Amino acid sequence: MSGRVDMLYFFLVTVAGLFSILIFGLVFYFALRYHRSARNPVAKQIHGSLGLEIVWSVIPLSLTMIMFGWGAVLFLRNARTPPGSLEIYVVAKQWMWKIQHTEGAREINELHVPTGAPVRLVMTSEDVIHSFYVPAFRVKQDVMPGRYTSMWFQPTQPGKYHLFCAEYCGNQHSAMGGWVHVMEPAEYEQWLAGGATGESMATAGQALFERLACSSCHKAEGGGRGPSLEGLLGRKVQLDNGQTIVADESYVRESILNPRAKIVAGYQPLMPTFQGQVSEEQILQLLSYIKSLKKAERTTQQ
Ligand code: CUA
Repeated sequence: MSGRVDMLYFFLVTVAGLFSILIFGLVFYFALRYHRSARNPVAKQIHGSLGLEIVWSVIPLSLTMIMFGWGAVLFLRNARTPPGSLEIYVVAKQWMWKIQHTEGAREINELHVPTGAPVRLVMTSEDVIHSFYVPAFRVKQDVMPGRYTSMWFQPTQPGKYHLFCAEYCGNQHSAMGGWVHVMEPAEYEQWLAGGATGESMATAGQALFERLACSSCHKAEGGGRGPSLEGLLGRKVQLDNGQTIVADESYVRESILNPRAKIVAGYQPLMPTFQGQVSEEQILQLLSYIKSLKKAERTTQQ
């Protein structure tokens, strides 16, 4: 992606540069060529030139449409996460990046990723708006309190790359950064094994799911006071107001913190809020657990 972004950027710089040279060249040339002189005391006014007007409309229009089309193609490509991405969870707070790997490893202001597969970051903030920015990957995404944003990149070369916060978030904003370590897959596996607490995010989420007694209503086999959560992510959900939504990460988060916002058709608004009882990191663990239920269901179907 960085090569493609650079191509577009160089195109923009080249167009801007050529037009600057052209315009300033003509300004100087005309100033000399048509300056007031004894031979030419008064300027002759010319009114209208259809040919010239068409030329100076069509050329800029086509150039800007190329910029628009090219930029839109890259933007859409960057907006869609390829399937099979490695998911990593990020929680921002003043002034640090807290990162959780699904296998259980956690780190602060450091992000270890393997080469060879797209990496998707699911991000939220505990306080104000931050922005996750890795210039070497040409990616930047705002990280907001109260919702999830995501971005993806595919690391290609092992190495150490700067990580920045790119949204002014308080007096230590400039210090809110770190490093992305890109490793060969085998090296990454080794790193994961060394850093893991032995408990994956899904396992931690499952323990939480039981401790908070979510399982007493959300029974896996259905028939509970709340809907079964198996295979929930990415599924269409019919709500009691007739609306149908696709269950995504933000929907799960909202349903934990503000359960009455969306009620699944056929169920009563009985669930209490868990606002203040679970941290953003714990919500991500619950989410990871609910996602793992999807995998369990898939394998039994195959
Ligand atoms: Cu966080 Cu700037």
